[in-house]
Amino acid sequence: MCGIVGYVGQKQALEVVVAGLRRLEYRGYDSAGVAVIADGTLAVRKRAGKLVNLETLLGSDPMPDSTTGIGHTRWATHGGPTDRNAHPHVSEDGRVAVIHNGIIENFALLRAELEAIGVTLSSDTDSEVAAHLLSAELVRTDGDLPEAMRRVCRRLEGAFTLLAIDRATPDLVVGARRNSPLVVGVGDGENFLASDVAAFIEHTREALELGQDQVVAITPDAVVVTDFDGQPVDATVFHVDWDASAAEKGGYDLFMLKEIAEQPKAVADSLRGRITAGHRLQLDEMRIDESVLREVSKVVVIACGTAAHAGMVAKYAIEHWTRIPVEVELASEFRYRDPIVGPDSLVIAISQSGETMDTLMALRHAKSQGARTLAICNTVGSTIPRESDAVLYTYAGPEVAVASTKAFLTQIVAAYLIGLYLGQVRGTMFEDEIRRILDELADMPRRVDLVLDTTEPVRALARELVAAPSVLFLGRHVGYPVALEGALKLKELAYMHAEGFAAGELKHGPIALIEDGVPVVVVVPSPRGRAVLHDKIMSNVQEVRARGAVVIAIAEEGDEAVAAFADHIIRIPAVPTLMQPLVATVPLQVFACEMATARGLDVDQPRNLAKSVTVE
Ligand code: F6R
Repeated sequence: MCGIVGYVGQKQALEVVVAGLRRLEYRGYDSAGVAVIADGTLAVRKRAGKLVNLETLLGSDPMPDSTTGIGHTRWATHGGPTDRNAHPHVSEDGRVAVIHNGIIENFALLRAELEAIGVTLSSDTDSEVAAHLLSAELVRTDGDLPEAMRRVCRRLEGAFTLLAIDRATPDLVVGARRNSPLVVGVGDGENFLASDVAAFIEHTREALELGQDQVVAITPDAVVVTDFDGQPVDATVFHVDWDASAAEKGGYDLFMLKEIAEQPKAVADSLRGRITAGHRLQLDEMRIDESVLREVSKVVVIACGTAAHAGMVAKYAIEHWTRIPVEVELASEFRYRDPIVGPDSLVIAISQSGETMDTLMALRHAKSQGARTLAICNTVGSTIPRESDAVLYTYAGPEVAVASTKAFLTQIVAAYLIGLYLGQVRGTMFEDEIRRILDELADMPRRVDLVLDTTEPVRALARELVAAPSVLFLGRHVGYPVALEGALKLKELAYMHAEGFAAGELKHGPIALIEDGVPVVVVVPSPRGRAVLHDKIMSNVQEVRARGAVVIAIAEEGDEAVAAFADHIIRIPAVPTLMQPLVATVPLQVFACEMATARGLDVDQPRNLAKSVTVE
């Protein structure tokens, strides 16, 4: 939430910062703003709404040349999405400009304190206090911006990334972080600060990870990191292994369409290097000792939204393969219910961004209880993997569209690899069984490709149903989380009432929602797998059909039994039961994307949402 960019170097800062904001806009699009230092003064422009509004303003009211600047794209928390609440915020004396991501929890107290000494605050945000506090500390520290920042940070509670510039020190940008993301881009005669490497990837692929409670000062030729007490810190260097083109639309109209199309590659990349020539599983990243894994008595998956659905899919597989009980818990609920976890629990945090605050807080709680923690994450250098005992990266490449697609498939793959690894280490699976499943996984990119080749019927169906007030999704077994995911995609993109149900649960209440013409999407289990699942769902289909539902079956090739009960059939390749989510989800993603497009909505940036949810 909120995208942050800072630049100092030889180039026009405004151009670098606005280009960076364009790449970070998925993090929030309630307002955007920039500040640069020129001729000993600060110039600031900001506008409510998407970045394009700021760009229009910059066209009519240009900024002076400058090689030092900061920029912000906002997802509003405190204070509505207005011009005056847009960042940067400037101190009353016009000396410092500040941008912020996160929530300053003690802002009311600080605000009252500032007002009591006569400071006039000009926004409704929690963030603005930081600008005024900084300017006061600059006076006390004789203009030492990094030290002023450290002093201010020691007073702040909550989560924050802050960037500040001071008109008196034109070649310096100072950043700080606690519980919110901030990475450093290390260039040649220029340096960058950003919430995400995407902001500077076209300039440099060398980056530094910042830890908790650290302050960083960048000048054109130096990066200095300290903790909040001023002690020097060695930041971890990492190389970004994708280039700028990976974060561009590459000929697609929408990032979401591009990311849906990238799924075969994302799945293949997430398997690469993890299966030996002898078809054994080799997870070099698994820094948790095998002896510890042998003692694990339960697995707890913590995640939010789509990532939680991936966890729900994984539960079926991991329990089946390892006989270890698996709980899947929404991260936002986890730590508030006194969960039972301890040294013999393996807690798996699934997060595309690696920054989701709910998941991070749940992870910390699990660690505090002595649990072993393992992250499944797509973002190298992010907080959740850094704070976990081990990490299995999903190599999906940058996911820019707000709605998660390729991350979901790769999260399932990564969780399956963990399940198989546990089976291998604990000896609960035969080697040939593991080999067979790894071969099935290795074949999934091809199968997903087949689905992508045949999406036109599902698009046509979305257009046909564009006026439907509500769509229900049913599934059983691994099809149940797929149904939840299909409903989530439709809600967030098409703003339609959509709900996913376990098909057997329907008769316990939700069936009352069925009336003439209600579209019901049914994820049909393979009849070749556990036939009972197929038979049961066929009964559920008949129950809704009898009450007037329009049934859309997502069914495998060759399943002729569905024809008698479905109004529309979307075919997917026949795959083993546990692999079905990897193919069955794809038409649901396409359905939601097409529905939103047909409704004239912004698919990549749906209303009220942001990609990386860094507040609780
Ligand atoms: C839905 C979606 C969200 C995220 C959730 C977790 O399409 O994208 O539900 O899955 O906010 O985000 P990460 O995976 O970054 O922790």
